[in-house]
Amino acid sequence: MKICCIGAGYVGGPTMAMIAKQCPDIPVHVVDLNQERIDAWNSDSLPIYEPGLDEVVREARGRNLKFSTDVDAAITEADIIFMAVNTPTKTFGVGAGRAANLEFVEKCARRIAEVAEGHKIVVEKSTLPVRTAEAIKRILGAGASGATFDVLSNPEFLAEGTAIDDLLDPDRVLIGGESTEAIEALVNVYARWVPREQILTTNLWSSELSKLTANAFLAQRVSSINAISALCEATEADVDEVARAIGMDSRIGPKFLKASVGFGGSCFQKDILNLVYLCEHFGLREVAAYWEQVVIMNDYQKRRFAEGICRTMFSTVSDKKIAVWGFAFKKDTNDTRESAAIYVCRDLLRERARLAIYDPQVPEAKIRADLIASMSNLAGEISDLDRSLVEKNVTIVGDGYEAAKDAHAIAVLTEWDEFKTLDYKKIYGTMKAPAFVFDGRNVVDRKRLTEIGFEVFGIGKSGV
Ligand code: NAD
Ligand code: UDX
Repeated sequence: MKICCIGAGYVGGPTMAMIAKQCPDIPVHVVDLNQERIDAWNSDSLPIYEPGLDEVVREARGRNLKFSTDVDAAITEADIIFMAVNTPTKTFGVGAGRAANLEFVEKCARRIAEVAEGHKIVVEKSTLPVRTAEAIKRILGAGASGATFDVLSNPEFLAEGTAIDDLLDPDRVLIGGESTEAIEALVNVYARWVPREQILTTNLWSSELSKLTANAFLAQRVSSINAISALCEATEADVDEVARAIGMDSRIGPKFLKASVGFGGSCFQKDILNLVYLCEHFGLREVAAYWEQVVIMNDYQKRRFAEGICRTMFSTVSDKKIAVWGFAFKKDTNDTRESAAIYVCRDLLRERARLAIYDPQVPEAKIRADLIASMSNLAGEISDLDRSLVEKNVTIVGDGYEAAKDAHAIAVLTEWDEFKTLDYKKIYGTMKAPAFVFDGRNVVDRKRLTEIGFEVFGIGKSGV
């Protein structure tokens, strides 16, 4: 038995590293077209920051885990081929801004059809619109090589920042397919470390749709509590108290009720928009509108946070220095895709604020590229004014203290643990008065900071 995975990103890399760790007798070959990414996987400085990942890769790499750009060789050798390529929202043509761009997954299928020999199990690991397996089967079946294929759907449920724990001890593994033998072959891989009763098998379409549905439900919870956070701010209710009170109802449960500046990440928005597009495609207008509201509420939350900063700071942030703490879309990752920080910073820059941004894992070049992209149109064009705002009004600094020095305000945009233990007295002494803290993650100790002299505003917390 040999495994290969096409796509060495946030999913392909950690998932295959875990399979290789748990199954030392199975050779696992991860391939990607991106040479730089593969070089990083083969170095001491992995392309993604994920707690515990270094150890897992170090244990398996060179033993039964290999990273390369040799896609054809990997396909030829493997019995099971995972496709873990990106499926971003389309930015052009029909369905732009909603539908998933299936270009990369189709290219993989075509490559497999071209070079495979014998029998292969092809596994959809990427998140895909329901019924994509139908297209994949047709593409594979049209290959001239005479190879035969089974197609399985095995969506990935890991969350970034906790990927290693999620992979080691998943709530469930989901495998959808038609061939019992193919399903059993993949079940046997996971069963090396996941209890069998947690390995769920379904038909192909249920599996594909369950992934979009899981992300829609999770994002819906965040948008629901964020909607309530706005009402809390208007009524002196406290969103954390409300979340605790409703979360103790066993039918609701306590998880994913943390109000925030808005959800980010590469999945939630993309997958809901994909679901919305599918519903529209099948003529289900009311269903589409229902789910779209989750994204609309999230956009409102991000915008409302930036507007709140401006309003509170006497309706002008022009030429004021604002410290931005955190740029990643959540703690313990270097991923910034769809991070709320991008949109808050963009809105503040357009109000002519000066930003000093600090994030412990996101490099300067990435922050600048994200801000430029956020100000560009779909064709990638950016006005001279917007470009100069990113170039002149943004500095990237090495810690929270430096960011706050001489600043009028601090905006906490990612919940990095280190923000809880900084010397706030010292920080207060270096800031302009009145010193504002806008806590987009409700992580700072409001009472203590208020005693020091800060004016603290949180999400779903009324007044100072
Ligand atoms: P990513 O962009 O980090 O990685 C995808 C990789 O695929 C890239 O390195 C790219 O170079 C490579 N690639 C694209 N086309 C290729 C081709 N034809 N041949 C070889 N390599 C190719 O994306 P990701 O975050 O790992 O997500 C991958 C899929 O998994 C997406 O469908 C996503 O929705 C899903 N997913 C992501 C997460 C997450 O937390 N990031 C979680 C669950 C599911
Ligand atoms: C998500 C899903 O959780 C995961 O199962 C799927 O495989 C990929 O998409 P991810 O985006 O990596 O994972 O992180 P997640 O922990 O879900 O957080 C997503 C966003 O929601 C983050 O910006 C996070 O800060 C925000 N969030 C999450 C909240 O604002 N409040 C919460 O209570 C939970």
